[in-house]
Amino acid sequence: MKIALISDIHANLEALEQVLKVIDQEGVDLIINLGDLVGYNANPNECLELIRARGDILSVVGNHDQAVSNPDKAQDFNIIAYQAVMWSIDQIEADHLNFLSNLPLNQVLEKRYLACHGTPTCADTYIAYLFQSRRVLNLLRRQLNPIQICFFGHTHKRALWYRDARGKVTLQPLQPGKIYLDRECHYLINPGSVGQPRNHNPAASYAVFDTQDYSIQFKLVPYDIQQTQRKILAAKLHPYLAERLAQGI
Ligand SMILES: [Fe+2]
Repeated sequence: MKIALISDIHANLEALEQVLKVIDQEGVDLIINLGDLVGYNANPNECLELIRARGDILSVVGNHDQAVSNPDKAQDFNIIAYQAVMWSIDQIEADHLNFLSNLPLNQVLEKRYLACHGTPTCADTYIAYLFQSRRVLNLLRRQLNPIQICFFGHTHKRALWYRDARGKVTLQPLQPGKIYLDRECHYLINPGSVGQPRNHNPAASYAVFDTQDYSIQFKLVPYDIQQTQRKILAAKLHPYLAERLAQGI
C-alpha cells in the first residue's frame, strides 16, 4: 500500500491543490492528513471543502483545528497565530467547524502505523529535539506496541527519527529518492508542511510511504506562492504570514 502523508495545510489552497494534483498523478492508495487544516492562510473553507469531498483522505486533529473549535486552546499561541485563529473562527462554516471538532487525536493503520499531529497523545506537543523524540519512541515501544512508525506534523519541518535495536535514537539526514527503512527499528516521520513549510525551502512538502518495500520518500511541490500571499494581504491577516511563505520559514 502506498500512503501519501500531508500535514499543516493551514488554509493554503494553492499549495494543497498542487500537492493533491501531484499525488493523484503518482497514484496512492490512501492520503493521511496529519492535522492543522486551518490557521495562518486565507482559504480555510475551500481547503476543508477539498479535503472532505474526497473519500481517500484520513485526518487527525491539529492544534489549530482544536483552537478554532475551542478558542481557550489558542491562549498560548503567539499573537500572529492567535489573530489568525480568531480570523478563521469568523470565516469557517458551521458544518466545517463541526467536522474539525470531531477529528480524532490519532489514527492507527494495520496495527503498525500511527498518525498524529504533535505526539500520539497531544496535538500541541512538539517532536523537535532529541529528548522529545526519545520520549515518543519509548512510548511506542512500551505502551503502543506493536506500533513501529509514528507519522507526525506540527513542526512544519521534514524529519526522520529512528531508534535502533540497541536503543540509540538518531535524526537521519534526508537524501533525495526513496529511503529504505529497517523493519527492526522504530521511526518518527514528519513529511513537512504543505501550507507553511519551514525547511528554508518555500515549496510545499509531503511524503509517500510504501508499506510493501518499506520506504519513505520526501517530495517538494512548487506552487503559486504570490497568489496565496495576495489572499493573505487582502484578508488583512498579518503581512508576516505572506512574507514567511516566500522564505520557507
Ligand atoms: Fe501547524
